[in-house]
Amino acid sequence: KEDAYKFTIGFAQTGFDDDWRKAMNQSMRIQADFNPNIDLVIMDGEDDVDNQIEDIEQLIKKGVDVLIVSPVKSKPITPIVKRAYNKGIPVLIVDRKIEGSEYTAYLGADNLQVGTDAANYLASITSEKSYILEIKGLPGSSPALERSLGFNNVIKKNNHLEVIQSIDSNWESYSITDTLRKVLDETKSINYIFAHNDRLALGAWEVLKEKGLQNDIKIIGVDGLSGPNGGIQLVQEGIFMATILYPTGGDEAMKLASSILNGQTVPKNNILKTIVIDSRNADIMKNQYDKIAQHQKDIENQQNKLKRQEKIYSTQSNILKLLLGL
Ligand code: FRU
Repeated sequence: KEDAYKFTIGFAQTGFDDDWRKAMNQSMRIQADFNPNIDLVIMDGEDDVDNQIEDIEQLIKKGVDVLIVSPVKSKPITPIVKRAYNKGIPVLIVDRKIEGSEYTAYLGADNLQVGTDAANYLASITSEKSYILEIKGLPGSSPALERSLGFNNVIKKNNHLEVIQSIDSNWESYSITDTLRKVLDETKSINYIFAHNDRLALGAWEVLKEKGLQNDIKIIGVDGLSGPNGGIQLVQEGIFMATILYPTGGDEAMKLASSILNGQTVPKNNILKTIVIDSRNADIMKNQYDKIAQHQKDIENQQNKLKRQEKIYSTQSNILKLLLGL
């Protein structure tokens, strides 16, 4: 069956475990299903640099027509991406960056802007001296670096705001719970937490709840997923004060990859929009996303119906051929 496809798009994904990656993969698969010429292969890097390097090696060997990579970390993934690119494989980097410029195009939201938006939001709602704890993403991954830079640049310009501590994570909340417990025991003056994603933010809220501090310390996250327990819902429930939308760009990645396959020249930098989600716009965002999700479901149902029809058709035509002795 694979031979029927004209093109293969290989995607070296950081990992499959979290909801943000799941949403991204799902939107990419839906787009791939639209195009009968395209076979989409998504590899699970299990959030591990060595695994991801192996995945990319496999995709190169397979002879993919476009390689998409969301690098676990920038530096160690750069050489293998360079190798693919210098072999003539078009490379689309998504969400997290590599070093240098040896790739075809980049797609993702501006993470400096994400950090800047979070800090500007804090500056806009505070006038008294306030202390902030920053929970950063994985060291060596570009969104962690850029979110922190954007955030701290703005905080430094606002005298009443101060980041009293920054802690590192691996993007998952289990990696910070113990440290956070300690920090909260030792530091009594924290007013706000800026967590680099909503999973870290939710993990922080759970620790605050454990210590009875959930009403004293307000939380800002990043991602703003629309599904159950996603950032938008957590803002609606008042668990987060705000979250900064970080779109997955799954649809856009597939569209860019298709343009590349069609021989079109694509822009080097493709920047997705972000927005602050708080109690003022969470409901409307939720409504919009629910509508999109319903459309997506309708489309998936249609696609499945079509597939069933195709199967029936091919069985019938095989029977016909048998009967006619062809
Ligand atoms: C998902 C994720 C998001 C975060 C992004 C940064 O794997 O951790 O929560 O915004 O990666 O690359």
